[in-house]
Amino acid sequence: METAWKAGLEDVIAARSAICQVNGEAGRLYYRGYEVGELAGAVSFEEVTALLWFGELPGPAEAAAFAARLRAARGLPAPVRTLLETLPRDTHPLDALRTAVSLAAAHDPDAGANDPAANLRKAVRLMTLVPETVAASRRIRAGRAPVEAPGGDSHGAYVLELCEGRTPSPETARILDVVLTLHADHEFNASTFAARVAVATLADLHAAVVAAIATLKGPRQGGANEDVLAMLLEIGDPARAEAFVERRLHARAALSKHERGAPTARVPGFGHRVYRVDDARARVLRAMAKSTAAATGRTRLFEVAERVYDAMRARTTLPVNVDFFSAVVYDALGIPPDLCTSIFAVGRVAGWCAHALEQLADNRLIRPRAEYVGPAPRPLPARSEGRR
Ligand SMILES: CC(C)(COP(=O)(O)OP(=O)(O)OC[C@H]1O[C@@H](n2cnc3c(N)ncnc32)[C@H](O)[C@@H]1OP(=O)(O)O)[C@@H](O)C(=O)NCCC(=O)NCCS
Repeated sequence: METAWKAGLEDVIAARSAICQVNGEAGRLYYRGYEVGELAGAVSFEEVTALLWFGELPGPAEAAAFAARLRAARGLPAPVRTLLETLPRDTHPLDALRTAVSLAAAHDPDAGANDPAANLRKAVRLMTLVPETVAASRRIRAGRAPVEAPGGDSHGAYVLELCEGRTPSPETARILDVVLTLHADHEFNASTFAARVAVATLADLHAAVVAAIATLKGPRQGGANEDVLAMLLEIGDPARAEAFVERRLHARAALSKHERGAPTARVPGFGHRVYRVDDARARVLRAMAKSTAAATGRTRLFEVAERVYDAMRARTTLPVNVDFFSAVVYDALGIPPDLCTSIFAVGRVAGWCAHALEQLADNRLIRPRAEYVGPAPRPLPARSEGRR
């Protein structure tokens, strides 16, 4: 067997997909051929979800029907609410979400069914289950009751109302809509790949989303936005940003390669496996971070972010990634650090479902090989009677 091994499967083509295209050299991202920066804000997140799932932008009637289908699925399943009320208060929100989706699988009306129509119904329910759970667990942790029967015509407005218990301004809803669109899909990122591996065994859709959420958590992927916001809050003052970056990068020189891999030895929000330049999402988010900070008066954190960005630019060739400026936008929306990755999941569940449905439509078990580098076959050493 003569296939080259690539650490971390870098640049390895693992499947064919018609959903999302990433051009790492140009910093471009396309959903089904449409550039993400053109979609964001011009097309609603619900329409983007339909585009990812069905392949084409819906016409007005289809868009209205799809949005109505999502609205009809709203509501937190009672067993999930009970679960959230019994979890320890310090449970990480993403762990609560992962556990809740796992529980919801058992109560899903289509539990046990794995045909395309049932999977589409499950996907619709997962689109609302994720934000319902994220918002409810946040409110329960704060000693508040989950919001029942939220309004909100658009998905963005509904998510914000679930969190805050009041109708958001159209501008705030629009901001979240754009953020969700920018996070909706990203080709074979680690969490999406995990979802595809899971469904390729013919495990159910909830199992795939549980695998995806579990994988999203790490600071090398979705967990980075939590680290970004925590870092920016820790720096606190724009005047301290450059020295912070300098110290962190300088400290790396004395570390081993293994030690340099620790999240605390990296600047979160920078670097990417595929992009060589700042990507389109980061560019849109940077502009949005500036305007939301100005609108909410939280300009200091944006200034800190700008100084960190400039300091990284001056010292490294690492591109800024989606997690950096999105953290500033989350802060302006009142989202605390440990909730950032969960909001990422509210958008990305659209992509996880799209990829799971695509995988199932033309499935083959995903089962790669390892290049074995352990001991050659050898005889079992003789063992004394006493060790048995
Ligand atoms: C995204 C990421 C995991 C990509 O990883 P990768 O393609 O496997 O790249 P590597 O981890 O091999 O990094 C290559 C080199 O760049 C360095 N590097 C990468 N990102 C860095 C960062 N944010 N800060 C400092 N150095 C970084 C690595 O330490 C490594 O150098 P070394 O071999 O001297 O230690 C990585 O850039 C990272 O950890 N970024 C910070 C976390 C983050 O923002 N994640 C969200 C991604 S969307």
